[in-house]
Amino acid sequence: DPLRTVEGREVTTPELWSKTRRPELLRLFESHVYGKTPVAAHEFPIIHRVVSEDSEALGGKAVRREISIIFGEKPDAPRMELLVFLPKGASKDSPAPAFLGLNFEGNHSVSHDPGVRIPTAWMRRDQGRGVVDHKATEEGRGQVADRWCVERVVERGYALATAYYGDLDPDFDDGYQNGVHPLFYRDGQTKPDPDQWGAIGAWAWGLSRALDYLESAPEVDAAKVAVMGHSRLGKTALWAGAQDPRFALVISNNSGEGGASLSRRNYGEDVAHLNRSFPHWFCDAYRQYSGHEDQLPVDQHELIALIAPRPVLVSSAEEDRWADPKGEFLAAQAADPVYRLLGTDGLLLQEWPAPAEDSLSKGTIGYRYRPGKHDVLPSDWEAFLDFADVHLKKKK
Ligand code: GCU
Repeated sequence: DPLRTVEGREVTTPELWSKTRRPELLRLFESHVYGKTPVAAHEFPIIHRVVSEDSEALGGKAVRREISIIFGEKPDAPRMELLVFLPKGASKDSPAPAFLGLNFEGNHSVSHDPGVRIPTAWMRRDQGRGVVDHKATEEGRGQVADRWCVERVVERGYALATAYYGDLDPDFDDGYQNGVHPLFYRDGQTKPDPDQWGAIGAWAWGLSRALDYLESAPEVDAAKVAVMGHSRLGKTALWAGAQDPRFALVISNNSGEGGASLSRRNYGEDVAHLNRSFPHWFCDAYRQYSGHEDQLPVDQHELIALIAPRPVLVSSAEEDRWADPKGEFLAAQAADPVYRLLGTDGLLLQEWPAPAEDSLSKGTIGYRYRPGKHDVLPSDWEAFLDFADVHLKKKK
């Protein structure tokens, strides 16, 4: 019951939710699932350096800007390369709402724009069936353009910002020796404590640092930034949205176990699989729940509830049984009482809908269930944009 505290107190008012239950749930997710994000003031400055700008990108429809976000002043300081496409007319007087999401293949992969720099970072990724690694090349340009639909996003009046997730933490089990984790180690500390952040925590932290930049860009309406992620990055988008209330809207695409789907259903992937195949994603304390989902002090509907009352869209795919689409729906449904307590319309569906190409339930908890595979499709973007139109454009 998301509306009952650990001590058994019923949460009957928005005040009790925000002062007592919400902080309690956030702490439980930190200590048992994703690990704590170091929020204490860090000693290094974060530098924003614009490294390229093209005001005639995408055939003159967009302004393209690349920004290095550098974590510290050391010559080898880790950095995140942020790529932003702004609709041509966006300005200080008419700033654009934005989508922000991390990508899997490098910034050059999200569009065919020949001006995007080829990443220099080594790209290494755990597919669950072993690690693949490579250096980005020209060949990868536009490789996943269909997964981002940049032209369409800009045409509908939104900016799109993205960065390669490996800039924040390479996605393999390296004992947290690279990426941003070491920046926060105490003297003598060599890896995060059992209740400190893993890779998902670091990726989510990076999304907040990207939002810091967007807040400083006059052409972006930073009060209207939707954070979007697919799969493991969908888990990340939810965690980013739960922790950082500046995100106005959250989209989880096929995020599955450890994301939007209920752990206790034990359908498709389970906690043991996550811990075995991707030991670096969650905090070490999460391992005690392998095979013991029933003992978790939270379940994933409460992660969705942490985003309330802000709009959240849970998007599922029929053939993505591994991610348990029905479990994603049930989690959205179980978060509904919190959204209602906070005065929103919550989830406007009583039952798990049949899959449909144009599926989209537009309540404050949105839900989409489409035919097809684990992927982000152009039709998904149409739904994301429609959902954002309903919830962001009306917002003053
Ligand atoms: C694996 C993993 C999922 C994850 C997915 C992805 O399938 O088991 O939990 O969401 O990879 O990120 O692609």
